[in-house]
Amino acid sequence: QITDLHAVEILDSRARPTLAVTLTTVDGARVRAGVPSGASTGTREAVELRDGDASRYNGQGVRTAVGHVNGEIAQALTGRSFDSAADVDRALLDLDGTDTKARLGANAVIGVSMAAMRAEAVLAGRELWQHIAQVAGTTPRLPVPHFNVVNGGAHATNNLDFQEFMLAPLGAPSLPEAVRAGAEVYAKLKAILSAQGHAVGLGDEGGFAPAVDRPEEVLQLLIDAVTATGHAAGREGIAIALDPAASEFHRDGGYDVAGEKLTSDQLIERYEAIVDRFPLWSIEDGLAEDDWGGWVRLTERLGDRVQLMGDDIFVTNPAIITEAISKKIGNSALIKVNQIGTVTETLEAMRICREAGYTQMVSHRSGETEDSFIADLVVGTGSGQIKSGAPARGERVAKYNRLIEIAEANPSLPFGLADA
Ligand code: PGA
Ligand code: ZN
Repeated sequence: QITDLHAVEILDSRARPTLAVTLTTVDGARVRAGVPSGASTGTREAVELRDGDASRYNGQGVRTAVGHVNGEIAQALTGRSFDSAADVDRALLDLDGTDTKARLGANAVIGVSMAAMRAEAVLAGRELWQHIAQVAGTTPRLPVPHFNVVNGGAHATNNLDFQEFMLAPLGAPSLPEAVRAGAEVYAKLKAILSAQGHAVGLGDEGGFAPAVDRPEEVLQLLIDAVTATGHAAGREGIAIALDPAASEFHRDGGYDVAGEKLTSDQLIERYEAIVDRFPLWSIEDGLAEDDWGGWVRLTERLGDRVQLMGDDIFVTNPAIITEAISKKIGNSALIKVNQIGTVTETLEAMRICREAGYTQMVSHRSGETEDSFIADLVVGTGSGQIKSGAPARGERVAKYNRLIEIAEANPSLPFGLADA
C-alpha cells in the first residue's frame, strides 16, 4: 500500500529539468527514482511532457508532469492496496488512457513505475536486480559494458554525423576488468587526441568530441588507443560498437555522411567496408527508423556478421518489436525504460526479444540523473549488454559503479554476453 507519492523538478545532466519521484509505503519502504531524457528520440516513443512555458527553462520545464504525479496520480494510488508493482503499472496505464502516455506524460509515469518496482524489492527484502529477476523469471548475469568514448550527431557540436563510437570489452574476464579496460583506453584516447592537437571537451554522454568528420578516422583512433594500452582489438579483447543514429542524418530520402549524400544501399556498403576493416561487432540504428525496406536489406547483408540493433526504429515497444521480428528486421533491440513508459512494458519487450532469439542491450539516455536503476535492470534480466556512456561523469559512472558493487558482492554471477 502506497502512503505517499511526491515528485519534484530536478536537473538532468544537460541542465534540463526532469523529475525525481519519491514513493513511501505503509510498511516503511521509502524509495526514489530519477527520470532520464533523450535528445535523438524516435518519433514513436512514449511522449515526454514539457511545459512549453518559454519564461522558464526555455520551455523545457516539467512542472505539469510533476503536478500530475502530486495531484491526479497520487490521488489515484495512495491509500490503495496493490498486489504488485505490475498492478501499479496497470493502474497508471488506465489512468492515463492514451497509447503514448501523452496525457499524464511518460516522464511522470516512468518515474512512478520505477519507484514502484524499487518499493516492491524493498518490501520483498531483495536487492533490486534480484527482485527484477524474480518478477521477469530470468537468470541474472553481469553485462558487457559499452563505453561511448567519441560523441557526434545530436550529442556534440562537431561535424561527426555518427552519434556514438563505443568500446565493448567482450574478452574481459569480469565486469570490474571490463570497466578497467574501458577507462584505460579512454585515458589513452584523450592523450592521443591531445597530442594530435584535438580539443578534448566532452559530448553529452561523456565521450570526446573531436573535430573529425569521417567515421573511419574515428574508428582508427579507437583501434590505436586500444592497442596502445596493450589490449587486443577484437572480440577476444576490446571490440567496437557503433550507434550512427541514422534517423538524425536521414534527409530528403538520403543519408548525409561527411558531406556525401548516400542511398540506403550505399550506406549499407559503407558499413560492410567498415566491418571488413575494423573489429566491429554491433551496429545500432544503422538506418533510419522509417527505412524499413533498407533495414531488411541491411539485415540480409550483415545480419550474420554483426549485431544489428534497433533503437529509434523499435523504441522498446512490444508491438513494434513483434512486427519487426516478423519482417526479419535486425537481430537485436536496444532497451530504454522511458521510451515505452513503464517497467512492466519494458520487461515485456525484453521477453519478446528473448523468445525470438533477438539479443538486447539496456541503455541510459543522453540526459541522465544519478539514478542507477538500469544497472539492476540489466543484471536482473540477464541481458548481457549495457550502454551508459563514457567511463566518466557522475551520471554515467553511477551505473558502472553500481555494476561493480553487484559484481563484488556476488562473485558467482556470470559475466558476459547472453545467448540470444
Ligand atoms: P538519446 O540517444 O538518449 O539522446 O535518445 C541515445 C541513443 O540514440 O542511443
Ligand atoms: Zn541509439
